[in-house]
Amino acid sequence: EKNNFDHFMLKEIYEQPSAITDTYRGRLQVDAGLIRMAGVDDNLERFLNAKRIVIVACGTSWHAGLVAEYIFEDLARIPVEVEYASEFRYRNPIINSDDVVIAISQSGETADTMAAIKLAKEKGAFVFGVCNVVGSSISRETHAGAYTHAGPEIGVASTKAFTTQITVLTLIALKLAKAKGTISNSDFHMHLRELETIPGKVELALESNDHIKKVADKYKDARNCLYLGRGFNFPVALEGALKLKEISYIHAEGYPAAEMKHGPIALIDEEMPVVVIATRKGHYEKVVSNIQEIKSRQGKIIGIVTEGDTSVRDLADYVIEVPDTIEALTPLLTTIPLQLLSYHIAVMLGKNVDQPRNLAKSVTVE
Ligand code: M6R
Repeated sequence: EKNNFDHFMLKEIYEQPSAITDTYRGRLQVDAGLIRMAGVDDNLERFLNAKRIVIVACGTSWHAGLVAEYIFEDLARIPVEVEYASEFRYRNPIINSDDVVIAISQSGETADTMAAIKLAKEKGAFVFGVCNVVGSSISRETHAGAYTHAGPEIGVASTKAFTTQITVLTLIALKLAKAKGTISNSDFHMHLRELETIPGKVELALESNDHIKKVADKYKDARNCLYLGRGFNFPVALEGALKLKEISYIHAEGYPAAEMKHGPIALIDEEMPVVVIATRKGHYEKVVSNIQEIKSRQGKIIGIVTEGDTSVRDLADYVIEVPDTIEALTPLLTTIPLQLLSYHIAVMLGKNVDQPRNLAKSVTVE
């Protein structure tokens, strides 16, 4: 049921505060200072002995894997590789028995991800699933796992699945960091406390909806759009671009902001909207100078900024604010305005938001 929302996608965007809370309920124990996850606890040695973690997924789930790469490497100091399941399965990949493979899938039915899991198992890896649909094929095929508990996601464009996947993966990274001693006690506790504030901050980010609608109205007729971000927010730029492509059919590309000067900057002119994730944490000054480069070429800038920001506001055509948080958790907030932006553009263009052309909710064929 859509309740009072026009589309499942919008309902699911608004469900994120409660979905994220459901994801960490019973797992995140701030007062006790611990994270409980049976699937990880029962296999802790496998995780701690892993020389590396290989993440396999498709689409939005692959983007969640990319965010996880930054988080795992930063917090738990475990090397991570993120692979498209469809490439991994046909590449004769080098997988050892001391590798941990994490498969991420909302539906738990994606054919390519399933095939990648079977291959990794044949090669002796320990395979851990991060699925949303309980009892799905992938959740049964993996050795262990953790559900996202986001509730049913009906809209073809994945929204709450993405933020809850990141939440689960952050919990795992923090848990491993604690067990390995790669995070200090105070930093660990700070992360737990901050994670607990995220649903409230997502709620605040959603309050920009009316403003985002105005931005959408301004750019709905664009033929192309660029999305830029750095560090933890580079994968968010990819995800923002995918969201716009799949429901509005506007061509969009995501790039690491600094990569722009190696090619995409040639595309920039007064017709080109550029969405730049420029939160105050993490390479902020560098992103601001990337914004200056776009501005001097007459590009239109939509900045996703930390509330109270002034530097980007002075340069951008529009800014959309999100609350402040620690850098590793910013993707959970910066994703929200990008989801709403593509939603409103697609609605204004009269597209079928919940069931875009040529797409299916779960891709069970190659
Ligand atoms: O169910 P899965 O997470 O395995 O699905 C993977 C992709 O097919 C999926 O994320 C797809 O890219 C979405 N339509 C993106 O919004």
